[in-house]
Amino acid sequence: MQVYNKNNINIHNCDNIDLLESLPDDSVNLIYSDILYNTGKKFTDYNDNLGSPNEAVEWYRPRIQEMKRVLSPNGSIYIHCNWRLDSYMRILMDDVFGGDCFRNRIYRKHSNERGFYSNFDSQIDSILYYVKNPRNFVFNEQISTETQTVALFEDGIFDGRSDQRMGIDLGAPNKHWLVNHQQLKAMQDKGEVQIINGLPYRVSNVKAQGNLWDEPEMLDAYSRTIAGGSYDTPKPDSVLERIISTSSNEGDIVADFFLGGGTTAVIAKNLNRKFIGCDINPKACEVTINKLEGRTPLQALRAGNLKPSEVANNQSENIIAKKGI
Ligand SMILES: C[S@@+](CC[C@H](N)C(=O)[O-])C[C@H]1O[C@@H](n2cnc3c(N)ncnc32)[C@H](O)[C@@H]1O
Repeated sequence: MQVYNKNNINIHNCDNIDLLESLPDDSVNLIYSDILYNTGKKFTDYNDNLGSPNEAVEWYRPRIQEMKRVLSPNGSIYIHCNWRLDSYMRILMDDVFGGDCFRNRIYRKHSNERGFYSNFDSQIDSILYYVKNPRNFVFNEQISTETQTVALFEDGIFDGRSDQRMGIDLGAPNKHWLVNHQQLKAMQDKGEVQIINGLPYRVSNVKAQGNLWDEPEMLDAYSRTIAGGSYDTPKPDSVLERIISTSSNEGDIVADFFLGGGTTAVIAKNLNRKFIGCDINPKACEVTINKLEGRTPLQALRAGNLKPSEVANNQSENIIAKKGI
């Protein structure tokens, strides 16, 4: 059931399989979904229990198949989960998309050590990143204010990658190229390639990015900012900003089929993307719509969109955000 449709932002309150089945083929540029982690916990806002890992995978299978169908030919998909299901989801996604469509597993640090008794604290969750076509996908590099010098080579002979380019035979010093011909040509065209001591480097203001996302603003504590709070397990805005700006362009359609408190919708809107999303829980849709409309908790209460207990929650969360906890 569609509950919101304004400025190219569409929110549905339904089971995601129903929304997915109603969408045309190849129609969504980017999917991000922070799925059920299968912790077995009953949160205030949703029940995180899909049975055994194998039962969970079978519940996800038709949804992941549909996500692949609706993804545009150069689209990308990010599935956010944690240690409970990430290996199972990796195998499922390899099955559905094909192993060559796997791009990376991103580790997002969610908290500092808490001090458990008999184990190492779990501080990260995983984001499985796939594309529909490994030869054609959107990847916008992020720009830094400082010039960065990055080696375009690595040690070791690698068949087909230790060849001679730009008059440099990388095989001779026992090295190989880290970029393919097309990538090197694009960098050369922009005047970014410099030869230093006989070896190739990229000198540009493109920010080097790893798959360990551990900046302070990526922590869960920062989720209680613009788009956070008022719903269980919100993800920090900065996680969504990085994914959406890297893997889509302005005007593209971004989708989230496990919407929760609507972080993805708000950030997609802020970055001038179109958005389609759904959650089975009406409260998730209400919270999301309030945020999209820029309503404060008190205004939402007056408009009948929030219960008094939710206002109290929101206010304490805002205090936490202000204190920077
Ligand atoms: C981990 S939370 C998402 C939190 C979100 N990333 C945020 O920033 O607030 C998962 C959400 O999936 C929703 N959900 C569970 N099963 C669903 C289904 N079959 N269809 C749609 N939504 C579902 C839950 O109600 C819950 O809000």
